[in-house]
Amino acid sequence: MNPFIDSFGRQHTYLRVSVTDACNMRCTYCDPSRTGRFANDRILSMEEILRIVRLFVTRHGITKMRVTGGEPMVRKDILALFQGIAELKASYPLSVGMTTNGTLLSDHLPSLRSLGLDALNISIDSLDRDRFRSITGMDALPQVLEAFRLAKGLEVPTVKANVVIMRGVNDHEIPAFVRYAAEHSLAVRFIEYMPFAQNTWDTGRFLDYRSMKRIAEAEGALIPMAYQPHSVSKDYRIAGTNGMVSFISSVSEHFCGGCNRLRLTADGRLRTCLFALPSMETDLRTLLRSGDGSNEAVADAVRNALRNKWEKHPDPEILAVTQSNVMRAIGG
Ligand code: 5AD
Ligand code: SF4
Repeated sequence: MNPFIDSFGRQHTYLRVSVTDACNMRCTYCDPSRTGRFANDRILSMEEILRIVRLFVTRHGITKMRVTGGEPMVRKDILALFQGIAELKASYPLSVGMTTNGTLLSDHLPSLRSLGLDALNISIDSLDRDRFRSITGMDALPQVLEAFRLAKGLEVPTVKANVVIMRGVNDHEIPAFVRYAAEHSLAVRFIEYMPFAQNTWDTGRFLDYRSMKRIAEAEGALIPMAYQPHSVSKDYRIAGTNGMVSFISSVSEHFCGGCNRLRLTADGRLRTCLFALPSMETDLRTLLRSGDGSNEAVADAVRNALRNKWEKHPDPEILAVTQSNVMRAIGG
């Protein structure tokens, strides 16, 4: 085994794979304008994605992965990916999660579950139908609530709700989300709004996690849970319930010290940081499709990228002006 270690000694055991930049929603915090979608031949095929996943898992110690998008379920061949992953899981320790908007899940969730899906994060930014529609561009709150019920019913081991909090948009729903978590024994994750190209981020829309936490605490005492290594969230149990709330402070308080993540974009670029600049990406697609797309060449490219991984990302104000990343191509 040849682990992926960067110049700060961080071993990378977690791979996030964006399988498409397409999405059926138009979330304001993501990329409502939808310009510049990747051409089809730029998107990795499932076979190419699986080749990278197999290589990373079998030779480089990746033990955790997450499938993201865009919206992963818009890919017609998504089950083929999970079939390939299931084969790997039979021989290697590997946990697999997916982040989804929950609107296209119902038909496939039983298959995904039997193929070993370990964790599901479903986005839900409002519990109010009209506001849900105005944030996402889709009148889909009932479908998404149904996706939560189905995931619970199928006993997907970990089910979490992702809520991006925007001041003046949905911050007043924090208490309702805490109650929802308590009532449904669910884990709700409040995520700081991050600046990305083409979204509506500005400091007026931003609410830091400490403020979110104060609002949440008014609804019930929050008991801190043990810190999980590499975790990006601060996790609490809501006293007297099986509900949990977490805060993801990507902007106000970086958690780069324990970073163990690699990201593969839908068009086959390796990113060593969610906030990395496009110039810091490594093009694995061209390598895979070229003469020397050998496993060694791919592994060398990854190691090279890790040598240049930064210790922590710059401050949010700097990110907001230098940022040219599009969230839906990276997958969070
Ligand atoms: N800030 C924070 N989180 C974001 N996501 C997408 N865009 C942003 C942003 N600007 C996250 C949401 C969604 C997941 C796909 O990515 O949590 O659930
Ligand atoms: Fe689609 Fe997710 Fe982006 Fe919303 S956040 S537009 S659901 S990719």
